[in-house]
Amino acid sequence: MSVESKQLVPGLAGIPAAESSVSYIDGQAGILEYRGIRIEVLAEHSNFEETAWLLMYGKLPTSKELSDFRQRLRRSRELPKGMIDILRAMPKNGHPMDALQAGVAALGMFEPRFEFGDEKGFEHAWIRLLAATPCIVAAFDRLRAGKEPLAPDPELDTAANFLWQLTGKKPDDSATHVLDCALVLHADHEMNASTFAARVVFGTEADPYTSCSAGVGALTGPLHGGANERVLESLESIGSLADVDAWAAARFAEGGKIMGFGHRVYKVKDPRSHALQKLGAKMFAKLGNTPIYDVALRLEKIVTERLGGKGIYPNVDFFSGILYQKLEIAKDQFTPVFAIARTAGWLAHLHEQMQDNKLYRPGQIYTGGHELPYTPIEKRG
Ligand code: ACO
Repeated sequence: MSVESKQLVPGLAGIPAAESSVSYIDGQAGILEYRGIRIEVLAEHSNFEETAWLLMYGKLPTSKELSDFRQRLRRSRELPKGMIDILRAMPKNGHPMDALQAGVAALGMFEPRFEFGDEKGFEHAWIRLLAATPCIVAAFDRLRAGKEPLAPDPELDTAANFLWQLTGKKPDDSATHVLDCALVLHADHEMNASTFAARVVFGTEADPYTSCSAGVGALTGPLHGGANERVLESLESIGSLADVDAWAAARFAEGGKIMGFGHRVYKVKDPRSHALQKLGAKMFAKLGNTPIYDVALRLEKIVTERLGGKGIYPNVDFFSGILYQKLEIAKDQFTPVFAIARTAGWLAHLHEQMQDNKLYRPGQIYTGGHELPYTPIEKRG
C-alpha cells in the first residue's frame, strides 16, 4: 500500500518506518526494553553476549545455546592479514569511526558472498561482525600509536578481550564488568538514526557488512553517537566545578546545544543515563572519584533546571564517556565502543527485516521549478 502525503514531518519524527519486536521505548516514562525485558534487569543479570543473542532470537538462550554461541564468537575474532594491512594504511590522525566504517565494509570483502534471504549466511555474518568489530577498533588504535595489534585471547569474553586487545593489559573483573554493562545498555534503541540507516541499506538487499558500515557512518555524527566524545570535550573545557555556572550561562546566551542532553523520543532522563550513573557510582567507590563527574552533576542540575520544562534531560551519551575515561579508553574511541555494542542491535533489526523485506523509498515534497529553458554557457550571466 502506498500512502500519498503532502505533509512534511521534519526528521520523520514519530513516523513508523517498520514493525519491530526488537526493542521498545516509552519516552514519557523513561522505559527501554529489549525483547520485552527492561534494560536495568539485563544490566544487572545478563551480559553483552547473552543480550546480543536475546536481541537476535527474541528469547534468552539455554546454557548450551549460550556456550556454543560464545565458542563461535571466540573462534571468529581473528582479522585476516589483509584487514590489518588496510588499517595500517589508514592515516594515523584519522578518526577511529572513519577507520571502523571502512574496516567493517572491508571485512565483508574477506567473507563468503552473502545471498539475501540465506539464514545460514546471515548467521555467519552476525557472528563475524559481533566478534571482529571490537578487534578492528582495537587494532586501529594500536596501529595509530605505532604498536602491533594483539592476538585475541580465547579465554576472555567480548568486553574483557576488547580491553586486552586495546590496552595490552589483562583487565580486572570490575573494569570488565563496567564495560560489559555499558555494552548491554547501548546494544539497541529501536528506530534510531543508525539503525534506520543500516535498515535502508539492507533494504536494497546489500550484505550485512555494508549495512552495518552504514550504521557506523550514521552513528558518527554529534547529534547521535558522536555526542559522547563531545560531552567529555565540553566537560574538560569547563575545567573545574567553580566554572560550570559561567560556562552554562555563556552557552545559554549564545543559544547553542549542550552535548549529552535532549532526545528525540525521551522527554525525561534517559533510563540508560540512570543505569550508567549507578554503574559509575560503584566504579568510583572502588577506583576513586573523578572530579569531572562532579562537574557533570553540576551541569546536569543547571541544564535540567533551565530546559527540563522542554523535556531536555541527560541522554545516554552524557555519562558514558566519564566511565570510559576511567577505563583508560581514549576520547575518540568512545563512539567506536558505542558501535561495538550497537552492532548487536543493527544485526537483530536486519535479520527481522530480512523475513519480509521491502525497499525503503520514501517520497518528497518537490520545491523546484518545471520546464525551465536550457541557457547555452556563453549566454549565462
Ligand atoms: N541543548 C540545548 N537545547 C536543546 C538541546 C540541547 N542538547 N537539545 C534540544 N534542544 C532544544 C533545541 O534548541 C530546540 O529548541 P527550540 O524549540 O527553542 O528551537 C528544541 O530543544 C528541540 O530540539 P531539536 O534539535 O529540534 O529536537 P530533536 O528531537 O531533533 O533533538 C537531539 C534530538 C538531536 C538529540 C537534540 O536533543 C540534540 O541535538 N542534543 C545534543 C546532541 C546529543 O546529545 N545527541 C545524542 C543523542 S542520544 C543518541 O543519539 C545516542
